[in-house]
Parts: sequence; C-alpha cells; structure tokens
Amino acid sequence: MQIVTVNELTFDEYLSEQEIASLVKDVASRINADYAGKEPLFICVLNGAFMYASDLFKQITVPAEITFVRLKSYEGTATTGKVNMLIPLQVPVEGRDVIIVEDIVDTGLTMHGFMQQLREAGVASVELTSFLFKPGAIKYVDATPKYIGKSIPTKFVVGYGLDYDEKGRNLPALYTLHQE
Ligand code: IMP
Ligand code: MG
Repeated sequence: MQIVTVNELTFDEYLSEQEIASLVKDVASRINADYAGKEPLFICVLNGAFMYASDLFKQITVPAEITFVRLKSYEGTATTGKVNMLIPLQVPVEGRDVIIVEDIVDTGLTMHGFMQQLREAGVASVELTSFLFKPGAIKYVDATPKYIGKSIPTKFVVGYGLDYDEKGRNLPALYTLHQE
C-alpha cells in the first residue's frame, strides 16, 4: 500500500488514479444522458474541485460551459446557510441549467447555502455533482449530491485536489488518514 506524508501526517492510498478515472467516467455518462438536448452551465467550486471539474468536463459530450466560484460558509444560528463568495459568479445564471461541481460534501452546509442562492438568482434547474460524499456526516440533506463519484466513510481524505491545510492537492490519487 502506498503511503504519503502531508504536513507531518501519514496517509494511506484509498483510490488509485485508475479508480478515480473510472468513477469520473461513470458520473460523466450519467450527466451526458440526463442533459441530452440541454446546455448546462457547470460551476466549479474552488479550490478543491478544480481537478475533478477538469477531468469531468473533458468527458462531457453535450454542449456545456464552465465557470468558477470560491465560497466561504459560516455556521451559526444567525448565519446558517449564508455563503460568501470570495470569487463571485462571473456569468448570469438566470434561466440556466446549472450543475455545481464539488470535491466533497461533508455536512452539506456550503452547498445548502449556495444552491439556495442560485435558486434565488432564478436558475432553471440546479443539480450537484460531488466527487466524494460522506453520508455519515450530512446535516443539510437537501445538499445530498445527485451525481456522486463515491460515497466514503466519515474519515479525512486528501489528494486529487483536496487539501490538508492547503497541502496535498497535487497528489493524483486519493489518500485517507493512516490508522495505527
Ligand atoms: P461542508 O460544507 O461541511 O459540506 O464542507 C465541505 C468542504 O469541507 C469541502 O468542500 C472541503 O473543502 C472540506 N472538506 C470536508 N471534508 C474534507 C476532507 O476529508 N478532506 C479535505 N477537505 C474536506
Ligand atoms: Mg470544496
């Protein structure tokens, strides 16, 4: 088993590059089938989703566009569901069939807030694809992704765009925290 060190923590390989490629291909096929005749707008959520978005978008065969946002969500009674855009939307979304592209959905807080904002902006439809989903951690069930690469246990993962304190995003495979 391949082991890597990121910021002094040890991680074990969890999904190989080949396994990732096959999961991404499966998601793309489902989206291509569901969006036949449509022209979806993909919104990649930076930073974590950049690698998944890139691989997924290459497999999309319907006419599609892609744009990017960077979000920051706040948990707290008064602010729950409020998502600040550190990099805001650059294109109008009104009337568009939007597909949000995320790296991982954990509690769902960020996506719960963002989907709400997109609906308020008048999108025709909004669906969510996330490469990874932690069903054991979800608190905002409306943020359960429609298109999931893989559901994983509630464990910390790194690589394939996902970071541990900003490091490890460059790893082409996915790693999980080493268990003693
Ligand atoms: P949520 O709003 O709780 O769903 O948080 C989702 C965000 O938390 C993701 O977009 C990631 O940036 C981060 N995150 C959650 N779990 C992990 C993990 O296991 N590794 C790296 N980042 C994670
Ligand atoms: Mg993310």
